[in-house]
Amino acid sequence: MKDEIIKLLKKENKLSTKTIDEMQKIDVNEFANMVKEIGKQKTEHIRSEEILEDLNTEYIGKNLYVFKEVSSTNTIAKFLSTNNVPDGSVIISEKQTSARGRSGKVWESPLGGVWLSIVLNPHVDYSKLPLITIATGVAVAKTLEKIGIENPEIKWPNDIMINGKKVCGILTEAVTKFNTIDNVIVGVGIDANLDIDEFPEELKIGTTTIEKELGRKSPENLLIKIFLEEFEEICELFNHSEYEIILKEWRKRSYSVGKIVEVREPFNKYYDGYVVGITKEGALVVEKIDGTLEKVISGECIIKN
Ligand code: BTN
Repeated sequence: MKDEIIKLLKKENKLSTKTIDEMQKIDVNEFANMVKEIGKQKTEHIRSEEILEDLNTEYIGKNLYVFKEVSSTNTIAKFLSTNNVPDGSVIISEKQTSARGRSGKVWESPLGGVWLSIVLNPHVDYSKLPLITIATGVAVAKTLEKIGIENPEIKWPNDIMINGKKVCGILTEAVTKFNTIDNVIVGVGIDANLDIDEFPEELKIGTTTIEKELGRKSPENLLIKIFLEEFEEICELFNHSEYEIILKEWRKRSYSVGKIVEVREPFNKYYDGYVVGITKEGALVVEKIDGTLEKVISGECIIKN
């Protein structure tokens, strides 16, 4: 992580006046302050003042850092989370050079998309992490509905789909200390105003963009503002343990329930089954061919019909 931070600081000329000796003496808080400074500079596409102008939230996004280009907003968020940034701080970047998807996949992040990470301090244990991803999916789906997408669906656990194609992915990561969760980083990538033709061949078939589905561009700043408001609303439900309400919203938009799937759990546990539903912990319930039920907590779920 430190390498990525140093790379960013060098690119932004924050270290140009420092000798190697001086650089070695910089402590982590000083690094963090330089990163925060870069995140407050003016950017082209994403404008913090536009997002903040009438942002109707109490804490989500009130502290906002916007970058032109970083390796991954999740990496920056993780780094800043260990340096006293307030709960609900948001890190956005116009481009990412090595963004992470689930299962170690690379996430394409050119200009025109919404690439952001939220730092949360939810005081929960590991068992609640899947529900944070579920809740975030609901917030993205509601955002898409607000901008005129008719039937966004959520493919367990974290893909937002439009007309059967993926438009958004979510990567939730925990920052831990002594086996307890210090912070949770919620990374959201929305393919907003991008040209699918520029995507790598293997992604073209299963991916769509908001621009393609709406037939027009949807300003990134507005999208971000709506999302942050929806996200805070669902966070409030989460913080008040209103998990059933969140799950009800998820079920209403489920792409997975009722489908035949191939489940790929860690340690090569692969099997086919029929998706029956979702548990109150956010696990998928799959009926296997022999009629037994499996709870899928993590892994991939490939739709077969
Ligand atoms: C997935 O595989 O579906 C999850 C993709 C998550 C991508 C987002 S973009 C913003 C944040 N930064 C990252 O490096 N990843 C997440």
